[in-house]
Amino acid sequence: MVFVKGAEAKAKLLSCVAPGNVEKTRSAPVTAILAMDAEFHEQLPKLFPHADARSWFAGNQPLIDESAFRNSSLQCAYFMMAARALGLDCGPMSGFDKAAVDREFLAGTTWRSNMLCNLGHGDAAALYPRSPRFEFAQACRIA
Ligand SMILES: Cc1cc2nc3c(=O)[nH]c(=O)nc-3n(C[C@H](O)[C@H](O)[C@H](O)COP(=O)(O)O)c2cc1C
Repeated sequence: MVFVKGAEAKAKLLSCVAPGNVEKTRSAPVTAILAMDAEFHEQLPKLFPHADARSWFAGNQPLIDESAFRNSSLQCAYFMMAARALGLDCGPMSGFDKAAVDREFLAGTTWRSNMLCNLGHGDAAALYPRSPRFEFAQACRIA
């Protein structure tokens, strides 16, 4: 995670977000770049020491990519749960130039951006009401 907070870094980030995300990103006290490690399997000897988990992934790029994206997205959701538990509001965003964010903030690392998340306290007067959601039967089936 890269917590973008300083004025210079924030200005750089604003040049990477979609037009509709500029103002909310500018006004958020902090914007987190939630990233994944494209070589996460190199960390498995430390993080998963009870098996040779590195060997399950090394050399299998499709499995690396799929697993990195899945687990990073899970982490994004947990990140928002933790932030909300602290009383913060979250504004997750897909609307940004991923290549530009990676170039500006993650160059020289094996990290790749997944999503951005504004953190702060939403302005109740400016927030949209919650959009419609599917009923159970529209999104689920029991097998
Ligand atoms: C794929 C996807 C991309 C999104 N991208 C943006 C975005 O770029 N900017 C934004 O303001 N909201 C974006 N949203 C919407 C919000 O992040 C969020 O879904 C909305 O506030 C509803 O949140 P709730 O489900 O907690 O009520 C996106 C939602 C989805 C599903």
